[in-house]
Amino acid sequence: MSGSTDIFEILHTTRAMRRLKPDPVPDALVRQILDAGIRAPSGGNNQTWRFLVIKDIEIKKRVQVIYKKAYETVIGPRYSSATPPPGSDKAKYDRQHSAVEYLTDHYHEAPVWIVACIEHGDDTPNRMSGASIYPAVQNMLLAARALGLGATLTTRHMIYADESDEALGLPPGVRSYAILPIGYPMGNFGPVGRGDLGDFVYQDRWGEKADWA
Ligand SMILES: Cc1cc2nc3c(=O)[nH]c(=O)nc-3n(C[C@H](O)[C@H](O)[C@H](O)COP(=O)(O)O)c2cc1C
Repeated sequence: MSGSTDIFEILHTTRAMRRLKPDPVPDALVRQILDAGIRAPSGGNNQTWRFLVIKDIEIKKRVQVIYKKAYETVIGPRYSSATPPPGSDKAKYDRQHSAVEYLTDHYHEAPVWIVACIEHGDDTPNRMSGASIYPAVQNMLLAARALGLGATLTTRHMIYADESDEALGLPPGVRSYAILPIGYPMGNFGPVGRGDLGDFVYQDRWGEKADWA
């Protein structure tokens, strides 16, 4: 499977594609992805999103060092002790861990990054802030998938958020919320597994399962 225009096929096969080829991604496709991003809603239609496209290897390397540090201090130890999440098992979780390690070491080699930011100005970010950028991020992931490009929603750099934003060269009042490393995938798009819908859905009263779910 490569590109697709069937929305449900795209939804069911948009996975974290962490192993990417170094081949450049045409600007026209990056533009198409970003254009899909800004079709998303934002609170009050304020559109305070800003997208920094990074191809400069030196900038990517600087951020990769921080991303790897966050793996070594926080994420790696967590993977070593965690149990597989719903819809996964030990073998799948081990494969995920190995892909996560791969991306950690090769983060900067993705030919293009889209850094999803919010221009907060003097406003203090709060619990609602991400709600105005992650719909755009998801649109971009789906668009990349539709175009046959691999991408991953990454947020780990935010473990060292200030350091990362500085390495990204963001001015005061602008914060990054996600980095999407994008490129042509080495592997194939496969089905997304998340467990049974019924395990996540209640009807009317918390804890009461919906028999149709
Ligand atoms: C909020 C959020 C943050 C994430 N951050 C990272 C990240 O920093 N690095 C990474 O490799 N994957 C990251 N992911 C991807 C998830 O780990 C991924 O969706 C999960 O492993 C399941 O893989 P799949 O989508 O291929 O089924 C993130 C996903 C979400 C929703």
